[in-house]
Amino acid sequence: MTLPTRKVEFVNPRAAHSFKARTCSIRSVGSYVPEKVLTNHDIAKLVDTSDEWIQSRTGIRERRVAAENEFTSHLAAKAAQDALEKGGLTADDIDLIIVATITPDMMFPSTACLVQQLIGAKRAAAFDLEAACSGFVYALEVGQQFIMSQTYNTVMVIGAEKLSTIIDWEDRNTCVLFGDGAGAAILQNVPDSHGLLTATMGADGGKGELLYMPGGGSKVPTTEDSVRNRLHFLHMDGRETFKNAVNAMCSAAREVLARCELEITQIQHIIPHQANQRIINAVGDRLKAKEDQVFVNLEKYGNTSAASVAIALDEAATSGRLQRGDLILILVFGAGLTWGAAIIEW
Ligand code: UT7
Repeated sequence: MTLPTRKVEFVNPRAAHSFKARTCSIRSVGSYVPEKVLTNHDIAKLVDTSDEWIQSRTGIRERRVAAENEFTSHLAAKAAQDALEKGGLTADDIDLIIVATITPDMMFPSTACLVQQLIGAKRAAAFDLEAACSGFVYALEVGQQFIMSQTYNTVMVIGAEKLSTIIDWEDRNTCVLFGDGAGAAILQNVPDSHGLLTATMGADGGKGELLYMPGGGSKVPTTEDSVRNRLHFLHMDGRETFKNAVNAMCSAAREVLARCELEITQIQHIIPHQANQRIINAVGDRLKAKEDQVFVNLEKYGNTSAASVAIALDEAATSGRLQRGDLILILVFGAGLTWGAAIIEW
């Protein structure tokens, strides 16, 4: 049997690792955040904190919290549908769904399979990918491989989280930081078009305990003790995570800029992981970026982990801020530790 071969359409001259292959474009993006808004004032009724502390230390004013009967798969499916609509596609067009999440509906089946069913993408293969807050860039990079290798034509990449289910609402160190939401991007080869120019991913498993959820897996299965000891909630060493986040995002940024032979001044939009305004400022300062290059929406959503940069990318696009041909630098960092960066030509 001879397999059909697709014509090589376009070689991207910018990517240093560019070879005779298809480029990977972002056909469209979409997002969804739950309706319920939880303000800093609301949280100050639950734990000993204040709007003033949260805003000055993080920049966050409010975050969204999903309803009890609204799961990660629902948020993901709504973001996916938004991206399909904006891209003028139907669920039948999708060959593969990748969902990046640390809050799957359940251990298995994967949230991607649940999304496939919810949106009716019957032809699509589906799997989850776990790289915590770096998940969206990891998923973009993985999705890109399927497009460039000509395995698939249309890949739906989603970052989705219902973090409110793994947050310890009695721990003021963490409960003020996170929110729920989802963002999606549809990857395709669009000949002679814009695309994902390059991406990098990194990890340091030796620092896993800076940010982790100990319970619920094969190491600490769910028992009365694990519940009593609050092991099914996220735990974080905030200060160390902060320092690692700044260093990792800066070096990932430098790596992708160097690969594409670009200076920071040539980048129109920097979309960093939306965890803390102070982290974003430190990264911007070190990279010598101007304030108006940096897109920030964390005041509305807090840290939505894998959904964070995906929601931000969709908001930047929907607001008309992104012009065709603009260069976008996406920076992520999260548990693992993991980090990543991508440069997209819009
Ligand atoms: O998505 C993955 C990436 N995540 C991150 O990058 C998060 C990184 N870390 C951070 O964003 C910051 O470290 C935090 C926002 C978590 C904390 O800010 P900080 O400036 O590093 O504060 P801290 O942890 O050093 O705590 C300072 C003080 C402590 O009190 P003492 O020990 O000095 O008396 C905390 O107990 O602030 C206290 N504190 C709070 N006070 C009021 C901690 N959380 C709160 C709170 N309200 N919510």
